[in-house]
Amino acid sequence: MSKTYTITAALPYTNGPIHIGHLAGVYVPADIYARYLRIMGNDVVYICGSDEHGVPITIKAKKENKTPQEIVDRYHQNIKNSFSEFGISFDNYSRTSAKIHHDTASEFFLKLLEKNSFEELTSEQFYDEEEEQFLPDRFLIGTCPKCGFEESYGDQCEKCGTSHNPRDLINPRSSITGNKPSLRTTKHWYLKLDKFQGFLEKWILEDNKGVWKSNVYGQCKSWLDDGLKPRAVTRDLDWGVPVPVKDSNGKVLYVWFDAPIGYISSTKEWAIDNKQNWEKYWKDDNTELIHFIGKDNIVFHCIIFPAMLKAHGDFIIPKNVPANEFLNLEGSKISTSKNWAVWLPEFLNDFPGKQDVLRYVLTINAPENKDNDFTWKDFQNRNNGELVAILGNFINRVVVLTKKYYESYIPANNELLDKDKNVLDLVNHSINKVEESLSNFKFRDACSEFMNIARIGNKYLADEEPWKIIKENPERVKTVIFISLHISSVLAIVSEPFIPFTSKKIKNILNFKDEINWTWEGLKKKDFLINENHKINEPELLFNRIEDSEIQLQIDKLHKKN
Ligand code: 2FM
Ligand code: ZN
Repeated sequence: MSKTYTITAALPYTNGPIHIGHLAGVYVPADIYARYLRIMGNDVVYICGSDEHGVPITIKAKKENKTPQEIVDRYHQNIKNSFSEFGISFDNYSRTSAKIHHDTASEFFLKLLEKNSFEELTSEQFYDEEEEQFLPDRFLIGTCPKCGFEESYGDQCEKCGTSHNPRDLINPRSSITGNKPSLRTTKHWYLKLDKFQGFLEKWILEDNKGVWKSNVYGQCKSWLDDGLKPRAVTRDLDWGVPVPVKDSNGKVLYVWFDAPIGYISSTKEWAIDNKQNWEKYWKDDNTELIHFIGKDNIVFHCIIFPAMLKAHGDFIIPKNVPANEFLNLEGSKISTSKNWAVWLPEFLNDFPGKQDVLRYVLTINAPENKDNDFTWKDFQNRNNGELVAILGNFINRVVVLTKKYYESYIPANNELLDKDKNVLDLVNHSINKVEESLSNFKFRDACSEFMNIARIGNKYLADEEPWKIIKENPERVKTVIFISLHISSVLAIVSEPFIPFTSKKIKNILNFKDEINWTWEGLKKKDFLINENHKINEPELLFNRIEDSEIQLQIDKLHKKN
């Protein structure tokens, strides 16, 4: 039955381009899921946008002697373009500096204020006398009280992942001047998170036990076990959404308060552009809201944002938050500051037309349950040994044989033997497994099962050897080619969520690009989507081998950057 889904992908910070860690952790799995749901006939809105506030952007602007707006303008366009070229099928990609977002975030804050969800507290906070500003979050650096890392931020240690109170940092210093900060009193609005402890415990620890991924559940449990405390949702900064109350000059909403509201404002923007009703995607109990994020975002999406949505009262809360772990690169942690990353714009430039290779490698090797490693050698092996040798080879052989024996007209399927029926059963079994895995956010399993369909096809051709029996048994060869073309049509459809560019190419080769019934549902309704006597197009190679020299170039480039 068709359902309504709101799929969100974490809004990336607009202080640098996208890299493979972002793609593997969030955007590729979210895209696979959104595409899959759409092919299944659901009503899907897939939402994202640039997260343009926050300290990292202000810090970068200060370093480059630019305004924060100049920084976000530069990267917003860069990020938006590279996502689009990579085939990420967002329905809308907005930005949090947009007016619609400022308005939506302000209204949200005011509603929570009206509902008495905040308390105003005055406290002493670190201040840089030379810069004449407070030092929230990343503006403060010091030694982590938990692991001893000397470059921990005021709000969170990137080494051990602990979030902490800036006052607990050992030897705090300003990240702008390096000066030892003083303390000044300032007033802020705190979300009464403690009031939501009971609601969150029931919803997460009871209702979603065994449903959500164990890494997500575990992190939530440890937050809840520690006991939730009121949390400041405003900051003394000049870049962000101004706190929409009188006399709040110099204060803005905390970036983690406004950013998730960005999902709502991006949906509103999409609805205006497409004459849709945005409320259907956020306020209807039958709609499933799914957040795709990396593991460092779990608390914000599973605890704080749901508490905000609940406090507001009009919104649905997420059905699932399938957060991924991290992707490493050649054995080391991806690091923007050390330039240890594969940047998407550079990849698109160095490997034109190879988007699907990267999508495939990042999916088959996704950091779903534990951190995982991307290596260029694995990228090459997966391309040459799987995409070229299994999928590309199968489709090419079938299409070449159809051309050679039948001038590219699909032959009739004669009587099916048991071995043909067995192959069809195997293929159907794989389709069901892909479907089940995708529904359960198991993208690695789904992707390898999809590749299995091509393996089944290759084995079938190798066993039946149509080229050996074409003379003495031409009728049998017709059936073998028909079945093989059927498997190709299955691959055209099932590959779409994973490798959409290739799916389109296969549909084109099979000359079925305009067929309305060529959907996953169609596949399940009918035995065969292909028809006898339909003329297919010329063979076309789906993938090319990647040579050692191309890979060496990338490895050298990576090491040279450091
Ligand atoms: O971690 C990040 O990259 C954040 N910019 C994610 C924000 S997700 C959301 F809440 F908008
Ligand atoms: Zn630490």
